[in-house]
Amino acid sequence: MLILRKSDIEKVISMDEAINTMETAFIKFSEGNCKIPLRTVINVEDKGDAIFMPGYVEGLGIAVKLVSVFPGNLEIGKPTINSVILLEDQKTGEVLALMDGGCITALRTGAASGLATKYLARTDSKSVAVIGAGVQAKTQLWAVCSVRDIQEARIFDLNDDRKKRYIEEMSEKFPYIRFAGVSNTDEAVKGADIIITATTSKKPVFSAENVSKGAHINAMGAYTPEMQELPEKVLKMADKIVVDSREAVLEEAGDLIIPIRKGIFSEKQIYGELGEVASGIIPGRQTDKEITLFKTVGIAAEDVACAAKIYENALLMGLGEEILLDN
Ligand SMILES: NC(=O)c1ccc[n+]([C@@H]2O[C@H](COP(=O)([O-])OP(=O)(O)OC[C@H]3O[C@@H](n4cnc5c(N)ncnc54)[C@H](O)[C@@H]3O)[C@@H](O)[C@H]2O)c1
Repeated sequence: MLILRKSDIEKVISMDEAINTMETAFIKFSEGNCKIPLRTVINVEDKGDAIFMPGYVEGLGIAVKLVSVFPGNLEIGKPTINSVILLEDQKTGEVLALMDGGCITALRTGAASGLATKYLARTDSKSVAVIGAGVQAKTQLWAVCSVRDIQEARIFDLNDDRKKRYIEEMSEKFPYIRFAGVSNTDEAVKGADIIITATTSKKPVFSAENVSKGAHINAMGAYTPEMQELPEKVLKMADKIVVDSREAVLEEAGDLIIPIRKGIFSEKQIYGELGEVASGIIPGRQTDKEITLFKTVGIAAEDVACAAKIYENALLMGLGEEILLDN
């Protein structure tokens, strides 16, 4: 079994390759060439969720991700998300690799939004609003910058320190982008071409009134029926609502489930899945005026595809540490 640490993983895959890998994964998923049972979420008292995400993607591999989301960890100086991925050989069932799941989660979630941005955002998009400046927000912005020529980013977080640290780190990575820390979401969202929500919020995090015509939104933070980042009105304003998986969002995405329960949104208003857009079954953005929205809760197909690509590249590059468990 190959052990792949975060430092190995960062060396073996680029964001562009991760976005291409997500394209393959989402197309296979929407074509039905995956077996992805809904994830099992165990709520651990009031502390957080232990989540188990198994998946099989035909031609790529089998994997399970163990991920825990404990929001209180930030206060004791530990990350909110802890995770590992086990990759299995699809021919023999042998465990091929144990990998750090945190960096793969951030990479594949960013890459999924990058793929959505590629098909749904205006090609001349230049400004981004980032709401929530935690771990995921970094790869979200990185992926958007891989597919669009971003020149300006306005950042809001409830926590000023995290906002400051995010801007410091991201300015080093993207020195050509003008970063501004803003004191409310109105300032971030007004006039933004692309809006990223990457928070742990249970309430909408911005006002729909501030969303410009032609904007694209990547809403990736809310992943349980109780969580919500999107103002309900934005669902009415959006011309195209694209999701990672119809089944998963209707089971897990408070952003859609809460308005459905109130009778102000219907699942029929979901335009399609990202895999259907990427394969060309349905068109992506068609006009500059459309408001487009990508809602993702994350599916195991992303982890399987990303883990399989990382394993393949690591073997080629001779990275990682082999261990035996049965000796
Ligand atoms: N869709 C997916 O595939 C996917 C994948 C990974 C993580 N997630 C989810 O994304 C969310 C963010 O994850 P993370 O690892 O970045 O967490 P994090 O704790 O590192 O960052 C979240 C940030 O959001 C900020 N925040 C919370 N409420 C806010 C609000 N109302 N307005 C502005 N900022 C606010 C927090 O201060 C924090 O800095 C989590 O809910 C996580 O479970 C989704």
